[in-house]
Amino acid sequence: MLTVFGLVLCISSASALWPIPSVYTNGSGVVWIDKDVKVSYNGAGQGGYTCGYGSKANNETWTSAIVTNAIERTYDTLFNKNFVPWKFHPRMSSFEPTLTSASVYVKSITLQQNATDPSDIVKPNTGGLDESYTLAMTADGHVTITGISSIGLLHGLTTFTQLFYRSSNSSGGVYSTLAPVYISDAPKFQWRGLNIDTSRTYKPLSDLYAMIDAMSYNKMNRLHWHITDAQAWPLEIPSLPDLANKGAYATWQKYSPADVAAVQHYGALLGIEVVMEIDNPGHTSSIAFAYPDLIAAFNVQPNWDSYAAEPPSGTLKLNSSAVYSFLNTLFADLLPRLSPLTSYFHLGGDEVNMNAYTLDDTVGTNASSVLQPLMQRYMDRNMAQVTSLGLTPLVWEEMLLDWNLTLPAETIVQTWIGDASVAAVVAQGYRALAGNYNFWYLDCGQGQWLDFFPGTSSEQFWPYADYCSPRKNWRLMYSYDPLSGVPANATHLVLGGEAHIWSEQTDTINLDTMVWPRTCAAAEVLWSGAKDASGQNRSQITASPRLSEMRERLVARGIRAEPIQMPYCTQNGTQCAL
Ligand SMILES: *[C@@H]1O[C@H](CO)[C@@H](O)[C@H](O)[C@H]1NC(C)=O
Ligand SMILES: *[C@@H]1O[C@H](CO)[C@@H](O)[C@H](O)[C@H]1NC(C)=O
Ligand SMILES: *[C@@H]1O[C@H](CO)[C@@H](O)[C@H](O)[C@H]1NC(C)=O
Ligand SMILES: *[C@@H]1O[C@H](CO)[C@@H](O)[C@H](O)[C@H]1NC(C)=O
Ligand SMILES: *[C@@H]1O[C@H](CO)[C@@H](O)[C@H](O)[C@H]1NC(C)=O
Ligand SMILES: *[C@@H]1O[C@H](CO)[C@@H](O)[C@H](O)[C@H]1NC(C)=O
Ligand SMILES: *[C@@H]1O[C@H](CO)[C@@H](O)[C@H](O)[C@H]1NC(C)=O
Ligand SMILES: *[C@@H]1O[C@H](CO)[C@@H](O)[C@H](O)[C@H]1NC(C)=O
Ligand SMILES: *[C@@H]1O[C@H](CO)[C@@H](O)[C@H](O)[C@H]1NC(C)=O
Ligand SMILES: *[C@@H]1O[C@H](CO)[C@@H](O)[C@H](O)[C@H]1NC(C)=O
Repeated sequence: MLTVFGLVLCISSASALWPIPSVYTNGSGVVWIDKDVKVSYNGAGQGGYTCGYGSKANNETWTSAIVTNAIERTYDTLFNKNFVPWKFHPRMSSFEPTLTSASVYVKSITLQQNATDPSDIVKPNTGGLDESYTLAMTADGHVTITGISSIGLLHGLTTFTQLFYRSSNSSGGVYSTLAPVYISDAPKFQWRGLNIDTSRTYKPLSDLYAMIDAMSYNKMNRLHWHITDAQAWPLEIPSLPDLANKGAYATWQKYSPADVAAVQHYGALLGIEVVMEIDNPGHTSSIAFAYPDLIAAFNVQPNWDSYAAEPPSGTLKLNSSAVYSFLNTLFADLLPRLSPLTSYFHLGGDEVNMNAYTLDDTVGTNASSVLQPLMQRYMDRNMAQVTSLGLTPLVWEEMLLDWNLTLPAETIVQTWIGDASVAAVVAQGYRALAGNYNFWYLDCGQGQWLDFFPGTSSEQFWPYADYCSPRKNWRLMYSYDPLSGVPANATHLVLGGEAHIWSEQTDTINLDTMVWPRTCAAAEVLWSGAKDASGQNRSQITASPRLSEMRERLVARGIRAEPIQMPYCTQNGTQCAL
């Protein structure tokens, strides 16, 4: 009991880094920072330059664009988007350091890149980019951040901003109480993603940028853009203009090629690769608004649930040359535009409803012995087109585990159904992404969004829970280990994972609160690992105040992240334990 008590007391003052670095030592010296401080960058092979507040170096290379953007954002975060950490100090206490003529200021910030960036820095293949960094801040205010890559420097600068707080003094002032600091850090997993659904509800670009910002603060590196689905097709395809013109919900709810490129570019500067998914052959009913002949079992009523997981039912026909030619045109238009800024394309393949093919005039049966070879041929066509453009394909787990497809060896298989799925995928030698819906589905627990037909006794559904209730709280998300159930000789095949925000009940109004700060829990598991240095599960006790502080940081940075506790619990850190 005493140990727990002591532990909680010593973390009751603000010192929160999120995600937790591999190696972190700090002191308790006060160092202030002001806007006049210059950042010098001796970037390997990049010429090197010095940046001041508001002065971009304007270099042409991606490397210097990434570094100057990171420096700009560091200034902006420290001086414009910082917060007073009163919630982490006893009530009414005067916890802030006093600024005097003797106060120490940060005198120099040196960025040292140890190697030239790989040529694919903005679309790295998994494992191909070294994201490690070191950060040292001396008690007399000299800061050195090193990285192998520009993205490592970006991560180091992100951590640097977490060392500083805004003073409540009306004259301003930004300080750290942690000098000297030494940090050495690298990610545990190479794929740290968030999957955003922009079909069920549309998200304006500003939402996507905000998600990318928040992901970057959490050192995540993959935005999985589930851009289309059964309900709406918001993606403009110039060679198939009717797709979005008829399939979007409204004329203004469309993503143009320039929009897509802008999101990719925004992510690339922050080390976040946008991985687009066109889910198919299921989850495609919205294509019927433009091309009804390509879709089987479209909007069957009232028993749509015999043909799909959600209304409107419908699937691309499985044995149709018209569908093949449509897919060829679609991907030939889209993929070359995506490929400058990504190495991946997600071909979907989840929740294909076999029964829908009884209504498919090119098939006419739900017999798996007939459907399986047709699905193999269908996916072979897709795979050939994706790989011929040099992209690595992803599919949902059902293609491998339920449909028994043979996939290109480099395919990444995204699991969601359970822990056993990760183990089953790697047992077949494929690389896997984790994201068990019982842990990392952010949409769960909102209650039933389906209405009930007149005459249906709705009481039978009381209390109207949704299929994946309850809500996945941060503690549950934090308890998830992507490596759970995976034998030691196959853990290298688990690339990482993704949290998912399916959007039946999430739109621009509640996106921030649905995603943050819960996704921080997934981000820390993916960056730092689910186990600590001694091999134990990471402690919720020490994570809780850090996450509360990360929440304050996200709010200060413009993200409407919800609170995980009340100030009473964080101000004196001992009295809210059970
Ligand atoms: C590190 O920071 C924490 C939180 O401010 C503080 O309690 C602790 O004393 C610091 N460590 C050292 C060695 O000063
Ligand atoms: C980047 O810009 C600096 C000046 O701002 C210049 O000295 C350096 O040569 C440039 N590097 C490249 C690669 O253009
Ligand atoms: C903080 O908690 C400790 C232990 O419960 C208590 O002794 C102390 O008075 C509390 N301080 C404040 C300011 O609430
Ligand atoms: C507030 O800031 C002013 C100007 O920097 C400084 O003179 C004063 O000492 C500060 N007050 C405190 C309590 O730190
Ligand atoms: C970069 O090189 C320095 C030695 O010059 C080393 O101390 C540092 O750890 C290296 N950084 C990384 C991230 O490996
Ligand atoms: C296949 O179709 C038959 C006849 O319509 C039906 O009884 C059966 O449940 C279907 N099987 C599946 C797996 O949907
Ligand atoms: C698939 O389509 C081809 C060409 O139309 C046809 O010959 C074949 O019978 C179809 N296969 C099935 C299982 O219906
Ligand atoms: C895949 O294999 C399993 C086990 O042999 C079998 O039960 C299932 O029907 C197969 N799936 C298809 C679509 O053929
Ligand atoms: C550690 O977490 C795993 C889930 O990842 C759980 O099964 C296990 O019981 C936990 N171990 C302890 C000691 O709490
Ligand atoms: C791991 O070891 C088991 C048992 O020796 C073996 O069957 C399996 O193929 C190995 N897996 C990998 C990915 O090497």
